Amino acid sequence: MIPKSFVHELLARVDIVDVVESQLPLKRAGSNLVACCPFHNEKTPSFTVSQTKQFYHCFGCGAHGSAVGFLMEYSGLGYVEAIKDLASRVGMSVPEMQSAPREAARHAESEQLADVLQRAAQFYRSELKRSEHAINYLKGRGLTGEIAARFQLGYAPAGWQPLAAVFDNYQSHSLVDAGLVVQGDEGKRYDRFRDRIMFPILNQRGQIIGFGGRVLDKSEPKYLNSPETALFEKGHELYGLFQARRGLRESGRIVVVEGYMDVAALAQYGIDYACATLGTATTPWHVQKLLRQTEEVIYCFDGDAAGRRAAWRALENSLAQLQDGRHIKFLFLPAQDDPDSFIRREGKPAFEVLLTTAMPLSEFAIRQLTEGLDMASVEGRAKFLQEVKPLVKQVNAPIFGLMLRKRIAALAGVSDAEFDQQCGIQPVRRKVREVARRSQPASFLRRLLRLLVARPEWVGQIDTSLLGKPQAGEPQLGKPMTSIADVSAQEWALLNELLPMLTAQSTRINLTEAFRGTPLAALVAAIEQEALELEDDQFAEDGMLEEFLAAWKQVQAAVDVVERTELEHRLASGQASADEKQRLRALYSRVPAGVETAARH
Ligand code: UTP
Ligand code: MN
Repeated sequence: MIPKSFVHELLARVDIVDVVESQLPLKRAGSNLVACCPFHNEKTPSFTVSQTKQFYHCFGCGAHGSAVGFLMEYSGLGYVEAIKDLASRVGMSVPEMQSAPREAARHAESEQLADVLQRAAQFYRSELKRSEHAINYLKGRGLTGEIAARFQLGYAPAGWQPLAAVFDNYQSHSLVDAGLVVQGDEGKRYDRFRDRIMFPILNQRGQIIGFGGRVLDKSEPKYLNSPETALFEKGHELYGLFQARRGLRESGRIVVVEGYMDVAALAQYGIDYACATLGTATTPWHVQKLLRQTEEVIYCFDGDAAGRRAAWRALENSLAQLQDGRHIKFLFLPAQDDPDSFIRREGKPAFEVLLTTAMPLSEFAIRQLTEGLDMASVEGRAKFLQEVKPLVKQVNAPIFGLMLRKRIAALAGVSDAEFDQQCGIQPVRRKVREVARRSQPASFLRRLLRLLVARPEWVGQIDTSLLGKPQAGEPQLGKPMTSIADVSAQEWALLNELLPMLTAQSTRINLTEAFRGTPLAALVAAIEQEALELEDDQFAEDGMLEEFLAAWKQVQAAVDVVERTELEHRLASGQASADEKQRLRALYSRVPAGVETAARH
């Protein structure tokens, strides 16, 4: 893992405004910057970037995060990748973990492979320009030069060792490791890709991680792909996703097709939001990657039996990844078509019309499962329920899951409760208390947290030593003896973590990152949002400090009440020491009567 201290140091140097602005234009609005949210469709901007707090928040969809989070969500990078990306922007190097020298070695190896692949791609591109044979092939397929450039297409010339002209040391093991050179049985080496049109496969950072190579005639195999390497895992990558990143933002959807040529043809005709699996079935990693970046995924399969089978595999691997508010659909082309042939013959508008007819995942599932069953008979319905059950159980999205179960129950002629029971799902009980609490005015603790997040420097205005006291450190939940028992345990825990963090800070701490992956992350996001609203309110500034100090007094008073109650208890049972009696007297003189009720609000 990357040390937290490094992440904070990094985030103190990076400006989230630059990071976001390199991807989407921001406009100044008051003390913050805004844009139309890239994570959901909207016409008026509710995506807000706070430069002082270094986080973004969307008031529309609730998207929230630091610069790291933005790269993860927007560019689909992993956590470590995002950190590396940011570090490279400000010229910092990510410390290599002592505990994992193997990790470091693997990283160095990956970088070397990427470099080798990049140089090979450059060579293939320049060869394409020189080869009439290859240019004619692409022209014959109707591809334009613009599209060839967009996808960095190239040509691997014929002959056994064309790459020997590019790499000084053709014997280097990195050429084999990169999958460019094959080591033959008798130690003879030769290029893997010979006389093929080359399709570079890019990762989310735009690095070349592998190739697909197509023959120019009818020989076999039609496509040759890079083997899996340290950089390239077929089940994780999607061809064309990098090039589609703008198109999918703008359209709010991505089309997943089967072939390299399909992606290229669709882009040429203006469907610049397509990608393809690499000759493998759609995996859960694919689905996860796609749903991170867009609201709607449309799988586009051939209309034949093989297409249906592939679609079903995709469905099975999608169920567990589904999220509420994100949709997966299935589109089947006419039997003789693939997307390439369809769009060339029918054009973009016809393809877009076709997209609107895509079948929602639930629809496809039910159609497939009821096919050939007599749903009017008990036997047919029983079989249907039996087959649908394991699928439904995989769904994690609460609302979608609920709707799906209702639909299935209705089809099978059982009650919702009966079907839920079959699936082992407990009936939902409304969390009445939670709803009630949310509509109540903010507690003093909540206000304190909000103001502390808005003005972290005010931590210097208060004496935080009192929170360290062991007996006052935790609210006694379940012991409704004092006002502090009403306090949210999470808010209390957050305050206790926040105070030392803010007091000790040398660089400004990015709270979103500090609490990443902890149980308090959601609360931190909510409070940062509230702090943002506070800052946006131009009238709020007046009296903010007073409010902060008043809220702090209430915290102090509430903590005193806990301690006092404890001491009273010891006194009553004759256990109190002289010191404790003294302390109790001090508390009596400090805590005004009736503070229990005051502290509650
Ligand atoms: P297709 O045969 O549908 O390819 O295979 P295509 O993209 O439409 O190619 P054209 O139009 O004939 O040129 C779909 C995908 O399956 C993988 C490739 O990823 C291909 O794009 N495939 C296919 C292979 O990996 N190897 C093969 O031999 C064939
Ligand atoms: Mn094709």
